[in-house]
Amino acid sequence: MEAAKTFQPGILKGKVALITGGASGINFEIARTLAQFGAAVAIMGRREKVVAAAVEEINKAGGRAIGVPGDVRTAEAAQKVIGEVVSKLGRLDIVVNGAAGNFLCPAEDLSSNAFKTVIEIDLVGTFNVSRAAFPELQKTKGLIINISATLHYSTTPWQTHASAAKAGVDSLTTSLAAEWGHYGIRVNGIAPGPIADTVGMSKLSLGMTNGDNLSDALSQVIPLGRAGLKSDIASAALFLSSDAASFISGHTLVVDGAAWLYHQPA
Ligand code: HXC
Repeated sequence: MEAAKTFQPGILKGKVALITGGASGINFEIARTLAQFGAAVAIMGRREKVVAAAVEEINKAGGRAIGVPGDVRTAEAAQKVIGEVVSKLGRLDIVVNGAAGNFLCPAEDLSSNAFKTVIEIDLVGTFNVSRAAFPELQKTKGLIINISATLHYSTTPWQTHASAAKAGVDSLTTSLAAEWGHYGIRVNGIAPGPIADTVGMSKLSLGMTNGDNLSDALSQVIPLGRAGLKSDIASAALFLSSDAASFISGHTLVVDGAAWLYHQPA
């Protein structure tokens, strides 16, 4: 993994990180990587068994992880999880708002409840957890990383709900960075492009397989010539969590191999 060749071991020693939606996919890789570099990590998710398996994998590899089951859609659950993290791990330095829900659906077929569900998981969930974490982050001069997307930079078919949600998430990133910078809290985002072997990719790839064929297809439309890896996003999260990023706040880092910028010649 490139991060291990680039970053000093132990750069997050003594830090505590909460990763929402951290039991699988990109968010699990972020949790694993922050733990590898010394942070104690708390994984929040709705599926208790999946959370437990993720915790076990990190602990078996020599990291320190706990599970904090809960749904980001309610402020009460967010508050409870923050309380649990602090009582079990002693503090909170890093919050990664990764919990998200998505599916492809044409706008005319999207029910109000379907639209609301994605807004509640992605946008309201990001606010709930950030708001609940604020007093602890204020104490530690901590940081937030919001996992966004590039869907809304132009438009993405059948992604009305997720595009609106992620546009809102980007707005939270800038607003909270501006309001909470005075407390020493940094707030940034990461906007991943197409990332191989993820639920998002399986759900959004229009029936293409999630293996070599899909990677081949993506390599044609991504200027850097390959699909992203979960570790590409985890490395970005590690950088933003590190002191090397201590003057970066309010920024959403696009990690997509220049994909969203590129249009094939007609
Ligand atoms: C249309 C759908 C639908 C679909 C659900 N709904 N799936 N509508 N097409 N495929 C509708 C339901 O009919 C219902 O509306 C409403 O959405 C709520 O559905 P529930 O199943 O009750 O919700 P819930 O159990 O809370 O599940 C939430 C979910 C689910 C988002 C629908 O897919 C989920 O939990 N996903 C989490 C994992 C995930 O999706 N990860 C991928 C993230 S990828 P009605 O009107 O019938 O009540 C990602 C990347 C973005 O975020 C960027 C990519 C580049």
